Amino acid sequence: MSDKAQINRPDPIRLSHNESFACPHQLTSLPDLNWSELCLNRYLKQEEGPLLPALARYSGYQATNIVLGNGSDELILNIIQALAGPGQGILIHPPTFSVYQKAARICRVAVHQVPLLDSFQLNTEEMIRAANQRKVDLIFICNPNNPTALALAEEDILRILDCTDCYVVIDEAYWEFAGNSFLKYLPHYPKLIILRTLSKAFACAGLRLGYLIADAGVRDAIRGVQMPFNLSSLTQCLGAYVIDNADHFANHIDQMLKLKQQLNAELNSLPGVSTRPSATNYLLIEVPDDPGQVVAELKRQGILVREVHQMDKRLKNMIRASVGTKAQNDQFVAVLRKALPNYGH
Ligand SMILES: Cc1ncc(COP(=O)(O)O)c(C=O)c1O
Repeated sequence: MSDKAQINRPDPIRLSHNESFACPHQLTSLPDLNWSELCLNRYLKQEEGPLLPALARYSGYQATNIVLGNGSDELILNIIQALAGPGQGILIHPPTFSVYQKAARICRVAVHQVPLLDSFQLNTEEMIRAANQRKVDLIFICNPNNPTALALAEEDILRILDCTDCYVVIDEAYWEFAGNSFLKYLPHYPKLIILRTLSKAFACAGLRLGYLIADAGVRDAIRGVQMPFNLSSLTQCLGAYVIDNADHFANHIDQMLKLKQQLNAELNSLPGVSTRPSATNYLLIEVPDDPGQVVAELKRQGILVREVHQMDKRLKNMIRASVGTKAQNDQFVAVLRKALPNYGH
């Protein structure tokens, strides 16, 4: 394709990263930042910036319980650096978010795996056995889970907290869409870590801002492996604005839920296509053709969705797609219909 043709090509419809379809400056006006107060000539430690107090107000916990990172991706790495370390191990429940494994590899930490049941719920007793018998320091539980989109049973997670002595990270990247957080259990479990992001419900993936809430001692250990000035002052000021205006930034959730319902119905009306229950802003979709080919054909037609079939044999017929705008979802369904040659006509 010539450069000119590429330039003239419309942007692809990006349903591959579980991002929000609603761009913040379309949701609300951008902040009137006071540039002189921002002091770009100065370093700004997270302990001295406006974001920790904003998150303390928002969460009901103290600033001394909170750590900020460049996305929750970075915090996953920091948690492993601080609480596991070379020669030790983490426990995950595949299929789940790939960054836990990647971060463990970077830290030379062993990864133990107890796959989800066929219901995509936790294999609780097996996880407890693995945590207690192997050298596991840290358990990652992704709730709701990516890529299965399902919320995990609360009693299963509580049982793991009750029956193991490991640090347990609950990754709540999508909790706002499901509405059930484990934050309330923090006072009862000193080794519990709640991990969150502004990338999903707050529609700010580009800001690269994640935070965790934990016991103050655990917080100190994790903060201890970070660089002193790990977050830019611009990120901290914008982040504080987003949190203080949470109602504006997260006000597309109801709209997303309606759009998800419509998209769900339309996908399920396609012959051979079905969706799994979703507690998130994306859908796990079973397709009747080779999902690799379906993803490639969608891409050729300008629709980006995520391949997940290599992750787990139970996902072998699946693709993952975020909920887009009405127009994007309509386009996705129309192209998917055509991309299923044996079924769509
Ligand atoms: C479960 C889960 N955790 C964490 C992240 C990373 O979020 P962030 O943008 O804060 O790094 C994602 C991103 O897709 C995710 O799905």
